[in-house]
Amino acid sequence: MRARWAGAAAVAVIASCLALVFPLVLKWIVDGPVTDQDPGGVWLGAGVLLALGVAEALLFGLRRWLVARPLAGVEAAMRADLYGQLQRMPVAFHDKWASGQLLSRATTDLMVVRMFLAFPLTFLIVNSVTIVAGLAVLVVQDWGLGLVLLAPAVPLMAVCYRFEHGYAEASRRAQDQVGDLTTVVEESVLGIRIIKGFGRHRSQARAFRELSRTVRGTELTKARLLAGILGVITLLPELALGTALVLGTVEVADGDLSAGTLVAFLSTALALRWPIESIGFLLAMSQEAATATRRYFEVMDEAQEDPRVRPTAGEHGGSGLRFEGVVFRYPDAAPDSVPTLSRIDLHIRSGETMALVGATGCGKTTLTALVPRLYDVTAGRITLDGRDITAMPREELRTLVSMAFEEPTLFSASVAENVRMGAPEAGDDAVQRALGVAQADFVERLPDGADTEVGEQGLSLSGGQRQRLALARTVVGEPRFLVLDDPLSALDVHTEAAVEAALRRVLADSTALVVAHRPSTVLLADRVALLSEGRITAVGTHQELLRTSAEYRYLMSGDDEAAEAEEAAHA
Ligand SMILES: Nc1ncnc2c1ncn2[C@@H]1O[C@H](COP(=O)(O)OP(=O)(O)OP(=O)(O)O)[C@@H](O)[C@H]1O
Ligand SMILES: [Mg+2]
Repeated sequence: MRARWAGAAAVAVIASCLALVFPLVLKWIVDGPVTDQDPGGVWLGAGVLLALGVAEALLFGLRRWLVARPLAGVEAAMRADLYGQLQRMPVAFHDKWASGQLLSRATTDLMVVRMFLAFPLTFLIVNSVTIVAGLAVLVVQDWGLGLVLLAPAVPLMAVCYRFEHGYAEASRRAQDQVGDLTTVVEESVLGIRIIKGFGRHRSQARAFRELSRTVRGTELTKARLLAGILGVITLLPELALGTALVLGTVEVADGDLSAGTLVAFLSTALALRWPIESIGFLLAMSQEAATATRRYFEVMDEAQEDPRVRPTAGEHGGSGLRFEGVVFRYPDAAPDSVPTLSRIDLHIRSGETMALVGATGCGKTTLTALVPRLYDVTAGRITLDGRDITAMPREELRTLVSMAFEEPTLFSASVAENVRMGAPEAGDDAVQRALGVAQADFVERLPDGADTEVGEQGLSLSGGQRQRLALARTVVGEPRFLVLDDPLSALDVHTEAAVEAALRRVLADSTALVVAHRPSTVLLADRVALLSEGRITAVGTHQELLRTSAEYRYLMSGDDEAAEAEEAAHA
């Protein structure tokens, strides 16, 4: 790729410098055949000019051919790297970054980079070489007039320098704003039901209009900056050229300069017009590409999930799933804030099903997310059959542990493919079994059965249907450890009972942690752990906890008296 690009740049430089040969041929024609009135010489000169023109065109074609394909390759490779990075980033990264910012980086910014590699990068070099060579030719032909043309160089450079700074700042702002705009579009598409349901489309549209007006304002600032520099870049050389033309004509009239030299001089100067005028655009595009590259690497340079496996100080005996002195604080929380989970000690015995109960927002989802290492514990450790989870390769951990999330997200794929995400090598009968456990018999009535496309680009399913498919995905691999975050919340009592009966068979072989809100789900479990204000405050069977814990009684029954009694006892 580099060799090809260097070849392309060299070809472009040669083509561009060919343009500087034209004036020399002109000079020869004017001072030679034209002055001597020799038509044959004029024809010869014209033929040479034609040949030069054809050569220049061919060389430019060659340049395009050299770079077009490899550049598309570069863009595709950068995009693939970015996508890979987004997949490998820890969940905490995605908590922090707005999706629109990531989307715009993967699309617009990479396109800007590719355009820069294709066009401005080559031409900044080509035009600089051409300008220097051209000015040299001018000074050699007539150093007095040459210096007149050189005079604007210093002010031009100063203007370009100032422009670069202003434009860099504006283009960063513009690209960030496009990212924000993308986020708004994405959220309003995903939240279209809420927007319509609450009649918010007008205010949403207004918010969108305001943002796009901001983007427009920034783009106008950029355009103003660009117009300013283009004006200066066109005006100053043009003035210098006019001055040179007047001085040159006077010199020719005085006989100090040959007419051919003046023609050559002026046509060389004219040949430099495009290289000089294009500098403004090229600088602008380079700035945008620099910003785009910076935005790209802001994402690429974020630390990935640490793939290293931490050696442990000897394997402990013990089996099941064990939390030992686990403390957890979200990565974006202040370091001195109260941790979401403080000192969790919990042992779920091998083959046991433990229900996790607690008031809403007490940290149940957070606790479950620690097991497959979606977040890493702040202190303490979690072991599976005595092995520290940080000492296991992530693939192994995530094959051992299977999760059902609160939000049953489906992908745009068939039912079977969605289920198979839980275990890619699962056969058809395993998928059917998993669908059976989840009581997803509705799948048979879908147009194409398990091959029906669901998800965003497919058939819409009801909340309970989605939840059952997500549950099937969790159990399909028959994992050793199951972590279920409120997996039955959207089901009616009868379906829930049927799923529970089937789950009981699955759970008999697995060690499971099940977040539960309803007594019916809790009854699935052998024991119950009560999570309260970031601590496990009680562990026991459902009956035991009903007897001993007022908070548990309250959570299970909605019994206010129990809670009041509890408060009274504390007071
Ligand atoms: N990604 C996050 N970053 C920072 N704080 C978070 C994040 N997710 C949750 N929290 C906070 O952690 C606390 C516990 O949240 P969590 O989702 O674990 O509660 P929960 O017990 O699952 O509640 P529910 O029963 O409503 O599902 C909440 O106060 C919440 O604001
Ligand atoms: Mg939760």
